[in-house]
Amino acid sequence: MTRPDLQYIGQSSRTTTTECFARHVSSGKVDFFHTAGIEFVMGRRDGPFIWDVTGEPRLIDCHCNGGVFNLGHRHPDIARELIDSVQELDIGNHHLISEPRATLAARLAELMPGDITYTVFGVSGGEAIDLAIKVARGYTQRAKVISAQGGYHGHTGLALAAGDEKYRAPFGPVSPGFVQVPFDDVAAVEKAIDDETAAVLFETIPATYGMPVPDRDFFANVRALCDRYGALLIVDEVQTGLGRTGKLWGIEHFGVVPDIIVIGKGLSGGLYPMSATCFRAKYEAVFQPDPFIHISTFGGAEVGCPVALKVLEIASDQRFLQHVQDIAALFAEGFDALKAKYPEVLVGLRQLGMMMGIELVDERCGPLFSKVAFDHGLLSVYANNDPRVSQLLPPLIIDRTLAAEIIDRVDQTLQVITAMLGGR
Ligand SMILES: Cc1ncc(COP(=O)(O)O)c(C=O)c1O
Repeated sequence: MTRPDLQYIGQSSRTTTTECFARHVSSGKVDFFHTAGIEFVMGRRDGPFIWDVTGEPRLIDCHCNGGVFNLGHRHPDIARELIDSVQELDIGNHHLISEPRATLAARLAELMPGDITYTVFGVSGGEAIDLAIKVARGYTQRAKVISAQGGYHGHTGLALAAGDEKYRAPFGPVSPGFVQVPFDDVAAVEKAIDDETAAVLFETIPATYGMPVPDRDFFANVRALCDRYGALLIVDEVQTGLGRTGKLWGIEHFGVVPDIIVIGKGLSGGLYPMSATCFRAKYEAVFQPDPFIHISTFGGAEVGCPVALKVLEIASDQRFLQHVQDIAALFAEGFDALKAKYPEVLVGLRQLGMMMGIELVDERCGPLFSKVAFDHGLLSVYANNDPRVSQLLPPLIIDRTLAAEIIDRVDQTLQVITAMLGGR
């Protein structure tokens, strides 16, 4: 007999799904979206678009889960790879030597800068950051980790400790040794770093902090400080990696080779979770006394390896990267015009390639932008650690026509916000 409290199972209208979600997954999220006036349950998805479960509205996905959908939703080549992979592979056994994992790690070694030739795979970005910190601490035998105020590295143990207070405050004591400094502030890093420092950890461009693009020489200066004190430089490329900035790795824009690069999100192709902690060969020493000292049952699941390999093939193609740069130039042009048109609300576009943040005048504007953009068929999520900014992360595969349409919808959105804030 069906239990009355589970009567929603198998129902898929927006209302029944929302009620079921509130009852069994998260009542808070349902309240949040209801209060924000965003009534949407993700249904069909294809390329750059997602539809409500009822068929309407259709949104252009300019959030992309922070890069999970860099290649759009259900990219046909990626889907084919997964279907083929399932015919032969499964999760595999994380204790054993694995051909798909070895092949994927070897390809990453080819594509990574410098002598970053080893990879440990994970499932999530947070897990991969945790491991990066473990590598740094294990290698240096030091505890201190410096990261950025407003930075975000995930909600797992050490990643959580490296992030902002508000995400960890309700959950009791965190691992000691973490220090936060303002981002893009070499003097602050210089003040914080010392002989006890295991690692300096930054996102190349902090996404949750609203995409502030650092000075061209910031990372070179941090690299020099790390070298001086024997600390490792860990770069979180979970959002900036895999072509988002117009180069395969965002850090390439800054001309430095970090000790560890962490990737995730887009490596999944939007279809099979995969993250990676990629490090310079010498740090593999950490795992030599006991190669089972770090374990992830699903990390680098064999069935997902061909998917990630296909993502790398697409994202590392120079024509693809050129396409990202060309579309990025359209956004730069479009936003210059919008800035002149809406000076009361739009400060400008923070941008490196298609890593983009729409900077607005004050903290009311980000949440407002997300709602009004939704009403105009755009999914754009404001930056949680700087709500003046709304993230603009369209799939990298969009064409010129869709880029123009996005700019047009942003135009309409800004027009409404200007009127709401009493501008015109
Ligand atoms: C820059 C960055 N690093 C790490 C993470 C954590 O990734 P995950 O949610 O897969 O643990 C995120 C997630 O949004 C992120 O944006």
